[in-house]
Amino acid sequence: APQYENIKIEVVGEKKNVGLIQLHRPKALNALCKPLFKELGKAVKDFDADKAIAAIIITGNEKAFAAGADIKEMQNNTYSSNTRDGFLQEWEDVSNCGKPVIAAVNGFALGGGCELAMLCDIIYAGENAKFGQPEINIGTIPGAGGTQRLPRYVGKSKAMEIVLTGNFFGAQEAEKMGLVSKVFPVDKLLEETIKLAERIGTHSPLIVKMAKQSVNQAYETTLKTGLQFEKSLFYGTFATGDRQEGMNAFIEKRTPAFKND
Ligand code: CAA
Repeated sequence: APQYENIKIEVVGEKKNVGLIQLHRPKALNALCKPLFKELGKAVKDFDADKAIAAIIITGNEKAFAAGADIKEMQNNTYSSNTRDGFLQEWEDVSNCGKPVIAAVNGFALGGGCELAMLCDIIYAGENAKFGQPEINIGTIPGAGGTQRLPRYVGKSKAMEIVLTGNFFGAQEAEKMGLVSKVFPVDKLLEETIKLAERIGTHSPLIVKMAKQSVNQAYETTLKTGLQFEKSLFYGTFATGDRQEGMNAFIEKRTPAFKND
């Protein structure tokens, strides 16, 4: 297994089919420095390519999911260096993953930490989670999707309030606005997130991938084009063995045996 310095990886779940990535820079509240993101990108890519893995979880620790991009690292960046080096460009690696990626958020998910959670497909939160886009407090604006994903996920007024004030908001509020799908006690968060990943893991990985692609289209295109895209993928499922197996199993009143084909 690759040696990582800023993250820890583990394969978890009863069937050992869940890839767990823990951000691990506790002294810096998991501030997302470039070396961390390089490792995260590689870990996500490796789990995506691993046939034994059904879904991926990204988590932090009880104090912090991640307190943002690394302010010390970018303190002396310039417009020229950002442009030349493609600052934060590697962050999109996480959104290129074909398998479901779930964020399990305890503690701070601020700035880039909130944006990383939003790069994931589903966000579960612990009761102590604190979200926010505090970039405005340090004289900049969100740079890894915050101003684009927040309005799409929670609407304009909430997004504006979050981005323009820099105020933090808690797990309950995040759930109420639809940013987070469920909230759990801090010490139950990870096991509940693993259960979610395992539930997804009972389905055909091939069909799960198509379902994820189709939901993601909703954020990329007009309703009409999105509905056409969905219909093509829906028709496409009928070219797979797993679709036939799923329907046969229902009619025969048995559990389907999906072959990822
Ligand atoms: N970058 C670098 N270091 C950070 C950090 C960050 N984003 N957040 C925390 N740290 C470091 C602190 O500097 C401190 O290090 P030292 O012990 O060496 O001083 C250590 O983590 C612990 O932090 P605090 O002492 O501040 O802990 P606290 O409990 O008092 O406060 C906090 C916690 C409210 C989260 C506070 O740390 C904080 O406000 N952090 C910055 C949050 C922020 O502004 N994030 C946005 C970054 S910009 C961005 O993300 C751009 C983008 O869109 C991609």
